Amino acid sequence: MHNIYVTRPELPPLEALLPSLEEIWSSRVLSNGGVFHDRFEAALTRHLGVAHLSLCTNATIGLMLALRSLGLRGEVITSPFTFVATVQAIEWAGLTPVFADIDPVTLNLDPRAVERVITPDTCAILPVHCYGHACDVDALEAVAQAHGLKLVYDAAHAFGVRLRGRALASWGDLSVLSFHATKVFNTFEGGAIVARDAPIKSVIDRLKNFGIVDENHVEGVGLNGKMNEFCAALGLAQLERVEAAIGQRARIDARYREGLDGVPGLRLQHLWPGEEPNHAYFPVRVGPDYGESRDALQARLKAHGIHARRYFCPLVSDLADFRDRPQVAPQPLPVAHEAADQVLCLPIYPDLGAADQARIIDLLRHGRG
Ligand SMILES: Cc1ncc(COP(=O)(O)O)c(C=O)c1O
Repeated sequence: MHNIYVTRPELPPLEALLPSLEEIWSSRVLSNGGVFHDRFEAALTRHLGVAHLSLCTNATIGLMLALRSLGLRGEVITSPFTFVATVQAIEWAGLTPVFADIDPVTLNLDPRAVERVITPDTCAILPVHCYGHACDVDALEAVAQAHGLKLVYDAAHAFGVRLRGRALASWGDLSVLSFHATKVFNTFEGGAIVARDAPIKSVIDRLKNFGIVDENHVEGVGLNGKMNEFCAALGLAQLERVEAAIGQRARIDARYREGLDGVPGLRLQHLWPGEEPNHAYFPVRVGPDYGESRDALQARLKAHGIHARRYFCPLVSDLADFRDRPQVAPQPLPVAHEAADQVLCLPIYPDLGAADQARIIDLLRHGRG
């Protein structure tokens, strides 16, 4: 039995990277804004069609840098239905996370729920484009503007997604992408912060290099958030392949939709109007009428070597560091709890074979009860 994981990192052929590695080896410039960093940053800005972008070590550091660069103090409203890093970044930036409930269809932060938890201490909203699908960006922007709040998107899942013809990562004051090994686009580890204007990018660029201005001056509490030359060189090679990889994901997504159509108790996420998705994840909702609980289904798949994942269960608001702090969850989160109880993400990656996928579909269709 061979194991099939929820994802499998995409890589260019090793030979494609060797000339870049030779260049790095001979220059001995390994980090600190070398030529590959600058080439990749420029190429990625063009590829995504965004105004400004700053590469960084990973999205967790990117979120910390984004929040820090805006000089925020107080509470940040976010989604409990996310990876723990979203919320840990808020805490590391010296801010207090406050959870609001999500929308039952999109599984993204519900703008009306956000309004209900705004207090005089609220300084920002940090929504997550969960599974790479767009939040209700217009409604969130309206809430942010009405209350004078900053809007920082966790776009860790949303590489290459476009909404109404525009990069999803261009919405908000800042958006943060992840290039972790498990993502649609990877540089082993990495990330980027997308900014609307040059001055905020230059603050981020300074903060990601410890706040260093020049040999004699350091401004702000920075950190080491720099992307190194190896990751940047890999990023350049990956950029050439990512469109084809997203195309392969689209075909796998379509096969799941066809194969799982009409299975009682299984609900698939709808496709967003106006969105060009990246097919980063394939979540299914396992309802009470499926005949088997979500956890039992996950265990049965695992017994066949298929490692589907419960993204995101438990909710971050239920983790030990948050659940006993009334301030962080001032309102009940029923929609997020139901999603956390039902969701299961199926394997999806560009080279998932048709026979393997057919086996997964067959197990979901026929092995119940
Ligand atoms: C929603 C979300 N936010 C943030 C992160 C953190 O990204 P990174 O691993 O690049 O720090 C991840 C996953 O890794 C994520 O899924």
